[in-house]
Amino acid sequence: MKIDILLGLQWGDEGKGKIVDVVTPDYDVVARFQGGPNAGHSLEFNGIRHVLHIIPSGIFHKEKTNIIGNGVVIDPITFEEEINALVKMGLTPTDNLLISKKAHLIMPTHKLLDAAQEAKKGAGKIGSTLKGIGPTYTDKTARSGLRVCDLYSDNFEEKYQHLLELHKETLRQYQYDYSETLPELETRWKQSLVTLRKFKAIDSEYVLYEYLQEGRRILAEGAQGTLLDLEFGAYPFVTSSNTIAAGAFTGLGLDPHFAGKVIGIVKAYCTRVGSGPFPTELFDETGERLRTIGNEFGATTGRPRRCGWLDLVALKYALMIDGVTDIALTKADVMSDFETIKVCTAYKVNGELTNRMPTENDVKIEPVFTELPGWKEDISKCQSYAELPQVFKDYIRYIEEFTGTKISIVSVGPDRTATIFRD
Ligand code: GDP
Ligand code: IMO
Ligand code: MG
Repeated sequence: MKIDILLGLQWGDEGKGKIVDVVTPDYDVVARFQGGPNAGHSLEFNGIRHVLHIIPSGIFHKEKTNIIGNGVVIDPITFEEEINALVKMGLTPTDNLLISKKAHLIMPTHKLLDAAQEAKKGAGKIGSTLKGIGPTYTDKTARSGLRVCDLYSDNFEEKYQHLLELHKETLRQYQYDYSETLPELETRWKQSLVTLRKFKAIDSEYVLYEYLQEGRRILAEGAQGTLLDLEFGAYPFVTSSNTIAAGAFTGLGLDPHFAGKVIGIVKAYCTRVGSGPFPTELFDETGERLRTIGNEFGATTGRPRRCGWLDLVALKYALMIDGVTDIALTKADVMSDFETIKVCTAYKVNGELTNRMPTENDVKIEPVFTELPGWKEDISKCQSYAELPQVFKDYIRYIEEFTGTKISIVSVGPDRTATIFRD
């Protein structure tokens, strides 16, 4: 049995949550492998929109098992809020959600450190979601973090206090006043641990291995996007985890031989929240149109997303690194009444043409565009590939030929039902 990986190929918010929800019926298990509450995965069905941050997007399918893997960082407060929302809907997540004992915990002070560090960076700030992601992964790699398994140990409080003191010391160095915010945050955090402790904590690597031996089908769900990867994004304008396909193996403890399909989610244009290079960014009315029609406002922070044309240079880079076998193309419906649609097919870096992404952030990238005809038809009601306008099919074929990768899924709206599978 193989494990399929589903992940974003741009700067996040490609529509991963929606597609995971749609393909979950094909799997027995959905397992998140990295990131934390910086993620906001939206999905819609029966006229209701849901946003998940830490919980895998297969949770609405009651009979499927969902796992929060070791690579994820958990904020117990956000976790509790998400659980409460699910329970209100009549779900019983304690039945089908398991959590890796090795997942790290985001402490209140991690969030304050995130804010303090961002403030210190001034104009060079990353635009972090301020959910404590960077500081928590920093403690993980510094080998001083708190893990889910610590919740059940006798010296949990001692470990917590030790780390708390270290964090306070750093906050003081940043001249960050935590006296007003921290006490309340700590109270809420400690209360929320009650909810977290109700869930079954597992050695997820063993459990997943057993599942595979039993022939169960597993989907690994990524967060953020390949271009925000710690190694391969435009460092330092990245997140603090491995968002690429390889991250699924470390984030779940899997043997790479089990790799099956790699489903890469691609938005038909590009968006980015936070700072960092964005070669095809639009600062004009077209960018505004994409933002308005596409409702491009962060699912986690509400921030307006920067918008621009599809960048095929960056996409090819992501396809190469992730070993993508299938693309799911989302949100082309947003451009339904566009006269023409541009795609970036090369960069001019310091005046020289290239099809590679530069590592340095201080170089000037000029995108080279190819202009394609718009389909000028509402595609959001199409239910089959045959129903799609020929001009849109030509656009799909253009991307497939340019990237050498098949577009197997076409999403034409936020709802579950607005999804077209080819073949
Ligand atoms: P994720 O982080 O990759 O799960 O994506 P987000 O949920 O942050 O952002 C994607 C947004 O686009 C959400 O509001 C989705 O409901 C919406 N969405 C997903 N697929 C489509 C689509 O094909 N068309 C339209 N119009 N909206 C979509
Ligand atoms: P999903 O899973 C879009 C961005 C932030 C910031 C940078 C670092 O919904 O696609 P962090 O909080 O991780 O330290 O922020 O990464 N970022 C995202 N952008 N979608 C996300 O998740 C993101 N998670 C982090 O805006 O630029
Ligand atoms: Mg999102």
